[in-house]
Amino acid sequence: MNTRRLHEGQLDEAAGLLRAGALVAFPTETVYGLGADGTNPEAVRRIFEAKGRPADNPLILHICDEAMLQGLVAEVSDTARRLMDAFWPGPLTLVFTKSAAVLDEVSAGLDTVGVRMPAHSLARQLIRRTGRPVAAPSANRSGRPSPTRAEHVLADLGGRIEAVLEGGPAQVGLESTIVDVSSEPPCLLRPGGVTLEEMGRVVGAVELDSHLLGADDAGAPRAPGMKYRHYAPDAEVILLAGSRKAQGDALKQTLASAGVARPAGLIASPALLEALEGELGEDGLFCRTLGEDIDDAGLGRHLYAALREADQAGVRTVFVESFPERGMGRALMNRLKKAAAKEEKR
Ligand code: TXA
Ligand code: MG
Repeated sequence: MNTRRLHEGQLDEAAGLLRAGALVAFPTETVYGLGADGTNPEAVRRIFEAKGRPADNPLILHICDEAMLQGLVAEVSDTARRLMDAFWPGPLTLVFTKSAAVLDEVSAGLDTVGVRMPAHSLARQLIRRTGRPVAAPSANRSGRPSPTRAEHVLADLGGRIEAVLEGGPAQVGLESTIVDVSSEPPCLLRPGGVTLEEMGRVVGAVELDSHLLGADDAGAPRAPGMKYRHYAPDAEVILLAGSRKAQGDALKQTLASAGVARPAGLIASPALLEALEGELGEDGLFCRTLGEDIDDAGLGRHLYAALREADQAGVRTVFVESFPERGMGRALMNRLKKAAAKEEKR
């Protein structure tokens, strides 16, 4: 199959493909999604095939307006209403008790469904012209870093899907925040583009899923996808720790010792990269930069592209700076810990 590259002027064509049961990747403000008509079981099943995605991992339904939410969910609680009013459209997925209309293929047998109204205008227009909720996971092969550019989608799924709608680089660059609002209090399942602090100001306390607290014996994660190794490049990812200075020192020491598979790379804030300039020896480290601090909404914007570029450059060990776990730092660290995990956690 020849994967077509479509642009803004071909939105109707993209929508027509979706309505006909095809797979069309599209841009959102978080990452590119791999879309299928969320009301077509055959099309939804093809998403799992194209991605190599485990069948027990449910999909998010993407909607363009609140009218589309009607019929998909059993109830919109007061908490859900406040979160929707504050953060939709935007990088927030809400998990509701589903209605009978939601396909089992979408919810993977759960009695809940995740719904998101993306902010990206091409995404919203595509959904509107399709006229149906669009089921979409991130448009990467399962386990790989999510795609933040159309080229990433083609690298992973070229030849396996009908088309990709091009919409430039993703602005947030990390996946949406997922909050379960099917019971009280609301529970954070995956940190993302809307921060815990921002949500706290709107709904008060948001509980953290035990898996985010780091418990090893916490049972099955409530977001099934969180149990798999994820976001991982081919290179080994080593997450530095401690103060920025301690991270720099540890890196210098580690690089000076034998035993690091080379070439090596570093993904870090401009501050750390600058502090280390000229101190990392002769053998040219592959360097890419992240945002400066945890209050920077673009902190994670370049992470996935940097991991993919490290692979392309043949890097075998990539060191990554760690950040405090608040604001966008929470989402970034969540992805980095998974990328650095050695084993697939099942
Ligand atoms: O930003 C995003 O959310 C992107 C863009 C394309 O919208 N989508 C995305 O989808 O990241 P995906 O499938 O790669 O990740 C969705 C996560 C998975 O971990 C899945 O297990 C979880 O959401 N999830 C989906 N439905 C759920 C549900 N009903 N209950 C709990 N977790 C759910
Ligand atoms: Mg994903």
